[in-house]
Amino acid sequence: MDTYNSNWKNEFQISFLKEDDKKIEELSKGLQQLFSGKYLEHLIFENEEENMSVYIGIGKEELTQNQILEITAFAAGIMKEHKIRKYDLDVSTFIELSGVSVLERVAQGLCLGNFEKYKSYEECLKSFTACFCGIPDCEQQKAKTYILKGQAIAEGVLFARELVNCPANKLTPVKMAGSIIHKLNSLHCKCLKIQLMDTEKLKKIGMDALYSVGMSSENPPYFLEIEYTPVKSNANRIGLVGKGVTVDTGGYCLKSASSMAGIKGDMAGAAAVAGAMYAVIKNGEKKNVSAFLPMCENRISDGSLLPGDVISSYSGKTIEVMNTDAEGRLILADAVSYAAKKGNVTSILDIATLTGSVVNMLGFSIAGVLCDDDKLYKRFENAFEKSGEQYHRLPFEKEHEEMIKSEVADVKNIGGSCCGTITAGLFIRKFAEQIPWIHLDIAGTAWVDTPLWKYQQTGATGAGVSTIYHLCETE
Ligand code: BES
Ligand code: ZN
Ligand code: ZN
Repeated sequence: MDTYNSNWKNEFQISFLKEDDKKIEELSKGLQQLFSGKYLEHLIFENEEENMSVYIGIGKEELTQNQILEITAFAAGIMKEHKIRKYDLDVSTFIELSGVSVLERVAQGLCLGNFEKYKSYEECLKSFTACFCGIPDCEQQKAKTYILKGQAIAEGVLFARELVNCPANKLTPVKMAGSIIHKLNSLHCKCLKIQLMDTEKLKKIGMDALYSVGMSSENPPYFLEIEYTPVKSNANRIGLVGKGVTVDTGGYCLKSASSMAGIKGDMAGAAAVAGAMYAVIKNGEKKNVSAFLPMCENRISDGSLLPGDVISSYSGKTIEVMNTDAEGRLILADAVSYAAKKGNVTSILDIATLTGSVVNMLGFSIAGVLCDDDKLYKRFENAFEKSGEQYHRLPFEKEHEEMIKSEVADVKNIGGSCCGTITAGLFIRKFAEQIPWIHLDIAGTAWVDTPLWKYQQTGATGAGVSTIYHLCETE
């Protein structure tokens, strides 16, 4: 991507018009088509030299971040459809509306709109050049920075999508760990420390919950710890924990055939953390961030957990496993308590495709959130306002905690017949050692069969990546 001030450089151009833009009247003269600048309405002009101008309507209301992403992804899609790989993009309308920082979102949307399934995202991003114009001279430098930032965020989102879309036989726990390590190492960052723990190590340090779930498969469990330390002082450090179940059959509490459709996507939490880490590091954010990724499969075998089993955990707390399909919270329990005890973190975020209940409650466009610290939640709210993602905070009380009390262990891994998302979150909270904690349940938003916005495609969405990135930015 390139920036310059005025004058078109390429034969192909895209401009964005508000409904009340005077240009619309001018354009409409002598036109057969109707074009009034409504949201996502578009008009293609081709002259004799086969130069092309595309006009995209952006409506008349103030634009949300989500809409900016959508409009720009839509624009990129039109050019892709016409096989035009180099074009000018007049961003003056956006800058007039919300300042030059808007270019972060514009660049992100363009990149997302160029994504094609079954192609590596790196290839997709290399395949187009957009030249930004309509940027005032004095803003050029800033503009470039925002564009680069937006590109890195999009790369993080697309990296997460690629991992989630990958079938379980191609992405076992060890392969997932390998791809993440490879990706992050490609950034050649000196402030990065990565440690991968194998089965033996998990057993040795007492990660009994991750070990117990993971030993259900011949593809053994792993735990990946990533430490990014650009600030050497005693600064804050956020710990990001992501559920990495590369396939969830339910174990002995086997899922029904019809509910097995998306089981390869049960590592979307870990993928989101990996994508966000990528963007944080690539953008050289001066914030200390760590990632803790438990990765395993949940299958049936001689060694699998059985309902009624009691296991230990990294924290020392014992857990009664009442349902082997509630495996995510088990592996997250170990990862969260490791982060709290060994990770030197001042806050903890965990993200997971955790409950079917959250899908019933909020559907595919809003993720559920539990948080026990209002200051942290305020920062999170600012983060998702920037990213354009949607979240809804859920309440929790003592009575919900009662629901996961066990008679034979410190806690049990399912609650009653209601409040499934809340009790799942509270189970994880038990392992956070009173450190400010926020929990994102993305079971509904990580995957779409029918895309909801132009920047999505059927399959993985990369949910969480951009919001977590913006949260880290303000650590
Ligand atoms: N990975 C699933 C949750 C899920 C459901 C993700 C639907 C995506 C779409 C999780 O491990 C699970 O099976 N949860 C159970 C918990 C129950 C047994 C308490 C559920 O929500 O049904
Ligand atoms: Zn499950
Ligand atoms: Zn699961």
